[in-house]
Amino acid sequence: MTYLPASTRYDSMTYRRCGRSGLLLPAISLGLWYNFGGVDSLENARAMIHRAFDLGITHFDLANNYGPPPGSAEETFGRILAQDLAAYRDELVISSKAGYLMWPGPYGEWGSRKYLVASLDQSLKRMGLDYVDIFYSHRPDPNTPLEETLGALDFIVRSGRALYAGISTYSPEQTRQATSILRSLGTPCLIHQPRYNMFDRWIEEGLLDVLADEGVGCIAFSPLDQGILTDKYLRDIPEGSRADKLRGEFHWGDTVSEARVATVRRLNDLAQARGQSMAQMAIAWVLRHPQMTSTVIGASKVRQIEEAVAALDNLTFSAAELAQIESLL
Ligand SMILES: NC(=O)c1ccc[n+]([C@@H]2O[C@H](COP(=O)([O-])OP(=O)(O)OC[C@H]3O[C@@H](n4cnc5c(N)ncnc54)[C@H](OP(=O)(O)O)[C@@H]3O)[C@@H](O)[C@H]2O)c1
Repeated sequence: MTYLPASTRYDSMTYRRCGRSGLLLPAISLGLWYNFGGVDSLENARAMIHRAFDLGITHFDLANNYGPPPGSAEETFGRILAQDLAAYRDELVISSKAGYLMWPGPYGEWGSRKYLVASLDQSLKRMGLDYVDIFYSHRPDPNTPLEETLGALDFIVRSGRALYAGISTYSPEQTRQATSILRSLGTPCLIHQPRYNMFDRWIEEGLLDVLADEGVGCIAFSPLDQGILTDKYLRDIPEGSRADKLRGEFHWGDTVSEARVATVRRLNDLAQARGQSMAQMAIAWVLRHPQMTSTVIGASKVRQIEEAVAALDNLTFSAAELAQIESLL
Protein backbone atom coordinates (compact mmCIF):
# COMPACT_ATOMS: atom_id res chain seq x y z
CA MET A 1 0.00 0.00 0.00
CA THR A 2 1.26 3.48 -0.80
CA TYR A 3 2.21 5.51 2.25
CA LEU A 4 0.92 9.04 2.52
CA PRO A 5 2.28 10.95 5.54
CA ALA A 6 -0.29 12.52 7.88
CA SER A 7 -1.06 16.12 6.97
CA THR A 8 -1.07 16.86 10.73
CA ARG A 9 2.57 15.76 11.16
CA TYR A 10 3.86 19.21 12.15
CA ASP A 11 0.94 20.15 14.39
CA SER A 12 2.15 19.02 17.79
CA MET A 13 5.84 18.06 17.77
CA THR A 14 8.23 20.49 19.46
CA TYR A 15 11.38 21.41 17.52
CA ARG A 16 14.42 22.68 19.36
CA ARG A 17 17.40 24.56 17.98
CA CYS A 18 20.58 22.51 17.86
CA GLY A 19 23.14 24.59 19.77
CA ARG A 20 23.92 27.83 17.96
CA SER A 21 23.19 26.35 14.53
CA GLY A 22 20.40 26.90 12.04
CA LEU A 23 19.11 23.34 12.44
CA LEU A 24 16.00 22.43 14.43
CA LEU A 25 15.53 18.87 15.65
CA PRO A 26 12.40 17.22 17.03
CA ALA A 27 12.52 16.88 20.83
CA ILE A 28 12.13 13.12 20.24
CA SER A 29 14.18 11.36 17.56
CA LEU A 30 14.07 7.70 16.57
CA GLY A 31 17.15 5.48 16.68
CA LEU A 32 17.56 2.30 14.65
CA TRP A 33 20.16 0.50 16.79
CA TYR A 34 17.84 -2.45 17.46
CA ASN A 35 14.65 -3.79 15.80
CA PHE A 36 15.42 -2.55 12.28
CA GLY A 37 18.02 -5.17 11.34
CA GLY A 38 18.00 -8.00 8.83
CA VAL A 39 16.75 -10.34 11.58
CA ASP A 40 13.71 -8.14 12.31
CA SER A 41 10.33 -7.76 10.63
CA LEU A 42 10.50 -5.29 7.74
CA GLU A 43 6.78 -4.58 8.07
CA ASN A 44 7.16 -3.65 11.75
CA ALA A 45 10.15 -1.43 10.94
CA ARG A 46 8.14 0.24 8.20
CA ALA A 47 5.15 0.80 10.47
CA MET A 48 7.38 2.38 13.16
CA ILE A 49 9.06 4.75 10.70
CA HIS A 50 5.71 5.78 9.20
CA ARG A 51 4.18 6.43 12.59
CA ALA A 52 7.23 8.36 13.76
CA PHE A 53 7.13 10.63 10.72
CA ASP A 54 3.37 11.07 11.07
CA LEU A 55 3.99 12.31 14.63
CA GLY A 56 6.55 14.88 13.51
CA ILE A 57 9.71 12.85 14.18
CA THR A 58 11.88 14.14 11.38
CA HIS A 59 15.18 12.81 12.70
CA PHE A 60 16.28 9.19 12.26
CA ASP A 61 19.54 8.11 13.84
CA LEU A 62 21.64 5.32 12.35
CA ALA A 63 25.21 4.02 12.41
CA ASN A 64 27.25 1.75 10.16
CA ASN A 65 27.05 -1.15 12.63
CA TYR A 66 23.32 -1.13 13.53
CA GLY A 67 21.50 -4.36 12.80
CA PRO A 68 22.10 -7.21 13.40
CA PRO A 69 23.83 -8.06 11.17
CA PRO A 70 25.93 -4.86 11.07
CA GLY A 71 24.87 -2.62 8.19
CA SER A 72 21.41 -4.10 7.89
CA ALA A 73 19.57 -1.27 9.72
CA GLU A 74 20.89 1.12 7.08
CA GLU A 75 19.71 -1.28 4.37
CA THR A 76 16.24 -1.51 5.95
CA PHE A 77 16.06 2.25 6.28
CA GLY A 78 17.21 2.67 2.65
CA ARG A 79 14.45 0.34 1.45
CA ILE A 80 11.76 2.18 3.39
CA LEU A 81 13.11 5.51 2.26
CA ALA A 82 13.08 4.50 -1.40
CA GLN A 83 9.65 2.91 -1.16
CA ASP A 84 7.80 5.50 0.93
CA LEU A 85 9.80 8.58 1.83
CA ALA A 86 11.86 9.53 -1.24
CA ALA A 87 9.59 12.52 -1.92
CA TYR A 88 10.13 13.72 1.67
CA ARG A 89 13.95 13.60 1.78
CA ASP A 90 14.15 17.34 2.44
CA GLU A 91 11.86 16.93 5.48
CA LEU A 92 14.22 14.41 7.07
CA VAL A 93 17.41 14.64 9.10
CA ILE A 94 19.26 11.35 8.72
CA SER A 95 22.42 10.63 10.67
CA SER A 96 25.05 7.92 10.55
CA LYS A 97 28.26 7.21 12.43
CA ALA A 98 31.50 5.28 12.28
CA GLY A 99 33.84 4.30 15.10
CA TYR A 100 33.03 0.73 16.17
CA LEU A 101 34.19 -2.45 14.45
CA MET A 102 32.67 -2.76 10.98
CA TRP A 103 35.04 -4.85 8.89
CA PRO A 104 38.19 -6.90 9.55
CA GLY A 105 41.70 -5.53 9.38
CA PRO A 106 43.29 -2.31 10.56
CA TYR A 107 40.96 0.04 8.63
CA GLY A 108 37.57 -1.20 9.86
CA GLU A 109 37.13 0.67 13.16
CA TRP A 110 38.16 3.65 15.34
CA GLY A 111 38.95 7.13 14.01
CA SER A 112 41.34 7.21 11.04
CA ARG A 113 40.48 9.25 7.98
CA LYS A 114 40.88 6.01 5.99
CA TYR A 115 38.11 4.28 7.97
CA LEU A 116 35.68 7.19 8.42
CA VAL A 117 35.50 8.16 4.75
CA ALA A 118 35.26 4.56 3.49
CA SER A 119 32.62 3.72 6.09
CA LEU A 120 30.42 6.68 5.20
CA ASP A 121 30.67 5.79 1.50
CA GLN A 122 29.41 2.30 2.40
CA SER A 123 26.60 3.76 4.56
CA LEU A 124 25.47 6.05 1.73
CA LYS A 125 25.31 3.05 -0.62
CA ARG A 126 23.31 0.98 1.87
CA MET A 127 20.80 3.79 2.40
CA GLY A 128 20.71 4.83 -1.26
CA LEU A 129 21.55 8.42 -0.30
CA ASP A 130 23.77 11.10 -1.84
CA TYR A 131 24.47 12.59 1.58
CA VAL A 132 23.57 12.21 5.26
CA ASP A 133 22.52 15.23 7.28
CA ILE A 134 24.77 14.50 10.26
CA PHE A 135 27.86 12.30 10.34
CA TYR A 136 29.40 11.39 13.69
CA SER A 137 32.69 10.17 14.98
CA HIS A 138 31.01 7.40 17.03
CA ARG A 139 33.70 7.27 19.72
CA PRO A 140 37.01 8.96 20.46
CA ASP A 141 40.07 7.02 19.28
CA PRO A 142 42.91 7.13 21.82
CA ASN A 143 45.47 6.22 19.13
CA THR A 144 44.56 8.64 16.34
CA PRO A 145 45.28 12.37 16.64
CA LEU A 146 42.03 14.29 17.12
CA GLU A 147 43.18 16.51 14.24
CA GLU A 148 42.98 13.51 11.87
CA THR A 149 39.54 12.33 13.00
CA LEU A 150 38.07 15.83 12.92
CA GLY A 151 39.91 16.67 9.71
CA ALA A 152 38.13 13.67 8.19
CA LEU A 153 34.76 15.05 9.38
CA ASP A 154 35.62 18.42 7.85
CA PHE A 155 36.54 16.70 4.55
CA ILE A 156 33.32 14.67 4.67
CA VAL A 157 31.25 17.85 4.99
CA ARG A 158 33.23 19.75 2.35
CA SER A 159 32.98 16.85 -0.10
CA GLY A 160 29.17 16.91 0.21
CA ARG A 161 28.83 13.53 1.91
CA ALA A 162 27.32 15.13 5.04
CA LEU A 163 25.80 18.50 5.88
CA TYR A 164 26.94 18.63 9.52
CA ALA A 165 29.56 17.03 11.76
CA GLY A 166 28.94 15.50 15.19
CA ILE A 167 30.77 13.60 17.92
CA SER A 168 29.53 10.90 20.24
CA THR A 169 30.63 9.79 23.72
CA TYR A 170 33.58 12.26 23.81
CA SER A 171 34.57 13.40 27.32
CA PRO A 172 34.20 17.08 28.29
CA GLU A 173 37.91 17.72 27.65
CA GLN A 174 37.91 15.87 24.31
CA THR A 175 34.76 17.79 23.37
CA ARG A 176 36.38 21.10 24.13
CA GLN A 177 39.38 20.17 21.95
CA ALA A 178 37.23 18.73 19.18
CA THR A 179 34.98 21.78 18.92
CA SER A 180 38.01 24.04 18.80
CA ILE A 181 39.66 22.00 16.02
CA LEU A 182 36.44 21.81 14.00
CA ARG A 183 35.86 25.54 14.39
CA SER A 184 39.40 26.28 13.18
CA LEU A 185 38.73 24.12 10.13
CA GLY A 186 35.54 26.05 9.34
CA THR A 187 33.15 23.15 10.00
CA PRO A 188 31.58 23.82 13.40
CA CYS A 189 30.62 20.87 15.57
CA LEU A 190 26.82 20.68 15.34
CA ILE A 191 26.01 18.18 18.04
CA HIS A 192 27.25 15.76 20.68
CA GLN A 193 25.48 12.42 21.19
CA PRO A 194 26.11 11.18 24.74
CA ARG A 195 24.39 8.47 26.73
CA TYR A 196 22.15 10.00 29.41
CA ASN A 197 19.34 8.73 31.60
CA MET A 198 18.33 8.64 35.28
CA PHE A 199 20.85 5.86 35.95
CA ASP A 200 23.72 7.30 33.89
CA ARG A 201 24.32 10.97 34.67
CA TRP A 202 27.95 11.50 33.62
CA ILE A 203 27.13 14.44 31.34
CA GLU A 204 26.07 16.53 34.35
CA GLU A 205 29.73 16.61 35.42
CA GLY A 206 31.15 19.01 32.87
CA LEU A 207 29.88 18.00 29.44
CA LEU A 208 26.65 20.03 29.48
CA ASP A 209 28.61 23.14 30.50
CA VAL A 210 31.11 22.65 27.66
CA LEU A 211 28.27 22.23 25.16
CA ALA A 212 26.56 25.41 26.40
CA ASP A 213 29.84 27.37 26.18
CA GLU A 214 30.64 26.08 22.72
CA GLY A 215 27.11 26.41 21.31
CA VAL A 216 26.94 22.71 20.45
CA GLY A 217 23.62 20.83 20.56
CA CYS A 218 23.05 17.67 22.59
CA ILE A 219 21.04 14.56 21.74
CA ALA A 220 20.90 12.02 24.57
CA PHE A 221 20.73 8.35 23.69
CA SER A 222 19.13 5.53 25.71
CA PRO A 223 16.86 7.84 27.76
CA LEU A 224 15.02 4.72 28.98
CA ASP A 225 18.20 2.84 29.88
CA GLN A 226 17.27 0.35 27.13
CA GLY A 227 13.80 -0.17 28.63
CA ILE A 228 14.71 -0.48 32.31
CA LEU A 229 13.21 2.99 32.97
CA THR A 230 9.73 1.86 31.90
CA ASP A 231 7.10 -0.28 33.60
CA LYS A 232 8.24 -3.27 31.51
CA TYR A 233 10.45 -5.03 34.08
CA LEU A 234 8.49 -4.24 37.25
CA ARG A 235 7.32 -7.85 37.65
CA ASP A 236 9.60 -10.01 35.54
CA ILE A 237 11.58 -10.07 32.30
CA PRO A 238 8.87 -10.46 29.65
CA GLU A 239 9.48 -12.79 26.73
CA GLY A 240 10.67 -10.92 23.64
CA SER A 241 11.87 -7.86 25.61
CA ARG A 242 15.38 -6.60 24.96
CA ALA A 243 16.64 -8.03 28.26
CA ASP A 244 15.19 -11.39 27.29
CA LYS A 245 16.61 -11.34 23.76
CA LEU A 246 20.06 -10.28 24.95
CA ARG A 247 19.82 -12.80 27.83
CA GLY A 248 20.48 -10.09 30.38
CA GLU A 249 23.67 -9.04 28.61
CA PHE A 250 22.78 -5.45 27.81
CA HIS A 251 25.43 -3.28 26.24
CA TRP A 252 26.83 -0.47 28.40
CA GLY A 253 26.60 -2.64 31.53
CA ASP A 254 22.89 -2.09 32.23
CA THR A 255 21.23 -4.73 34.35
CA VAL A 256 17.66 -5.48 35.34
CA SER A 257 18.82 -5.92 38.94
CA GLU A 258 16.48 -6.13 41.93
CA ALA A 259 17.87 -2.84 43.26
CA ARG A 260 17.24 -1.02 39.99
CA VAL A 261 13.75 -2.41 39.59
CA ALA A 262 12.95 -1.39 43.19
CA THR A 263 14.01 2.20 42.35
CA VAL A 264 11.96 2.17 39.15
CA ARG A 265 8.92 0.99 41.14
CA ARG A 266 9.16 4.09 43.34
CA LEU A 267 9.81 6.37 40.37
CA ASN A 268 6.81 4.79 38.66
CA ASP A 269 4.56 5.90 41.55
CA LEU A 270 5.77 9.46 41.08
CA ALA A 271 5.22 9.25 37.31
CA GLN A 272 1.65 8.12 37.91
CA ALA A 273 1.06 11.02 40.28
CA ARG A 274 2.21 13.30 37.42
CA GLY A 275 -0.27 11.59 35.09
CA GLN A 276 2.55 10.04 33.05
CA SER A 277 3.90 6.58 32.43
CA MET A 278 7.35 5.73 33.75
CA ALA A 279 8.80 5.95 30.22
CA GLN A 280 7.25 9.37 29.71
CA MET A 281 8.65 10.76 32.96
CA ALA A 282 12.12 9.38 32.13
CA ILE A 283 12.02 11.12 28.73
CA ALA A 284 10.71 14.41 30.19
CA TRP A 285 13.47 14.29 32.81
CA VAL A 286 16.18 13.95 30.12
CA LEU A 287 14.68 16.83 28.13
CA ARG A 288 14.60 19.18 31.16
CA HIS A 289 18.08 20.64 30.44
CA PRO A 290 18.06 23.76 28.27
CA GLN A 291 21.06 22.38 26.32
CA MET A 292 19.17 19.17 25.44
CA THR A 293 18.13 19.52 21.80
CA SER A 294 16.57 16.09 21.49
CA THR A 295 16.61 12.59 22.89
CA VAL A 296 16.96 9.56 20.67
CA ILE A 297 14.70 6.73 21.73
CA GLY A 298 14.59 3.13 20.62
CA ALA A 299 11.39 1.20 19.97
CA SER A 300 10.23 -2.30 19.14
CA LYS A 301 6.56 -1.35 18.63
CA VAL A 302 4.57 1.54 17.22
CA ARG A 303 2.86 2.16 20.55
CA GLN A 304 6.20 2.80 22.28
CA ILE A 305 6.82 5.67 19.84
CA GLU A 306 3.33 7.05 20.49
CA GLU A 307 3.89 6.85 24.23
CA ALA A 308 7.26 8.63 23.95
CA VAL A 309 5.85 11.48 21.88
CA ALA A 310 2.99 11.94 24.36
CA ALA A 311 5.66 12.64 27.02
CA LEU A 312 5.94 16.09 25.45
CA ASP A 313 2.51 16.96 26.91
CA ASN A 314 4.14 17.34 30.32
CA LEU A 315 7.78 18.36 30.39
CA THR A 316 7.56 20.53 33.50
CA PHE A 317 8.85 19.36 36.87
CA SER A 318 8.20 21.16 40.13
CA ALA A 319 11.17 21.68 42.46
CA ALA A 320 9.55 19.16 44.83
CA GLU A 321 9.27 16.52 42.09
CA LEU A 322 12.90 17.00 41.08
CA ALA A 323 13.97 16.71 44.70
CA GLN A 324 11.94 13.53 45.10
CA ILE A 325 13.55 12.02 41.98
CA GLU A 326 17.00 12.98 43.34
CA SER A 327 16.28 11.24 46.62
CA LEU A 328 15.02 8.10 44.87
CA LEU A 329 18.09 7.96 42.62
N1 LIG B 1 26.08 7.03 20.03
C1 LIG B 1 26.09 5.85 20.60
O1 LIG B 1 27.14 5.33 20.96
C2 LIG B 1 24.79 5.13 20.80
C3 LIG B 1 24.73 3.97 21.60
C4 LIG B 1 23.49 3.37 21.81
C5 LIG B 1 22.34 3.91 21.22
N2 LIG B 1 22.44 5.01 20.42
C6 LIG B 1 21.25 5.59 19.75
O2 LIG B 1 20.20 5.74 20.68
C7 LIG B 1 19.04 5.05 20.20
C8 LIG B 1 18.20 4.61 21.35
O3 LIG B 1 18.90 3.70 22.20
P1 LIG B 1 18.10 2.65 23.05
O4 LIG B 1 17.35 1.75 22.13
O5 LIG B 1 19.01 2.05 24.06
O6 LIG B 1 17.03 3.64 23.77
P2 LIG B 1 16.00 3.52 24.95
O7 LIG B 1 14.90 4.45 24.52
O8 LIG B 1 16.66 3.74 26.25
O9 LIG B 1 15.48 2.00 24.94
C9 LIG B 1 14.63 1.56 23.93
C10 LIG B 1 14.00 0.23 24.28
O10 LIG B 1 13.19 0.35 25.46
C11 LIG B 1 11.99 -0.42 25.32
N3 LIG B 1 10.86 0.52 25.37
C12 LIG B 1 10.71 1.68 24.70
N4 LIG B 1 9.56 2.30 25.02
C13 LIG B 1 8.96 1.50 25.93
C14 LIG B 1 7.74 1.60 26.66
N5 LIG B 1 6.91 2.64 26.51
N6 LIG B 1 7.44 0.60 27.53
C15 LIG B 1 8.27 -0.44 27.69
N7 LIG B 1 9.43 -0.60 27.03
C16 LIG B 1 9.78 0.37 26.16
C17 LIG B 1 12.08 -1.11 23.97
O11 LIG B 1 12.72 -2.37 24.15
P3 LIG B 1 11.98 -3.79 23.95
O12 LIG B 1 12.66 -4.43 22.83
O13 LIG B 1 12.22 -4.49 25.25
O14 LIG B 1 10.50 -3.52 23.69
C18 LIG B 1 13.00 -0.21 23.20
O15 LIG B 1 13.66 -0.83 22.13
C19 LIG B 1 19.62 3.93 19.35
O16 LIG B 1 18.69 3.40 18.43
C20 LIG B 1 20.74 4.66 18.65
O17 LIG B 1 20.22 5.44 17.59
C21 LIG B 1 23.63 5.63 20.23
